[in-house]
Amino acid sequence: SDKSETIGEIVARHHNREGALLPILHDVQAAFGCVDAESEALVARGINWSRADVHGVVSFYHDFRQEAEPRPVVQICRAEACKARGVEALIDAAHRAAGERVKIETVYCLGLCSAGPAARTGDDLHVRLDEGSVARLVESA
Ligand code: FES
Repeated sequence: SDKSETIGEIVARHHNREGALLPILHDVQAAFGCVDAESEALVARGINWSRADVHGVVSFYHDFRQEAEPRPVVQICRAEACKARGVEALIDAAHRAAGERVKIETVYCLGLCSAGPAARTGDDLHVRLDEGSVARLVESA
């Protein structure tokens, strides 16, 4: 399947280094939006681990989603630099705009610290957010 081909490529890219599993799982999630049971099995086979051990890692780290999120996702950075730039005051506005339709996710640093508060939707990065722009961002997600 396409999935096994893609996962094969991801495993090949990382598997010679120490601690390859986390970068592999991050790439799998970036490619498919989650690390589901089929992906776990393919990764396990690729790196010669048991499926149960791979599953243990996937479920331990909150970064990994075990099923695809059906809603649009807006990731808002709540790490230090964005906090200092006032992100906490925007969270309520983001949730109000999101309602049940959009998932608001907290992330820690998007690498845009000097231009925060920062957020990401898919591949798009958004900077210098305020209440109005965060609400518009969520509404258009
Ligand atoms: Fe928010 Fe770095 S702290 S982007």
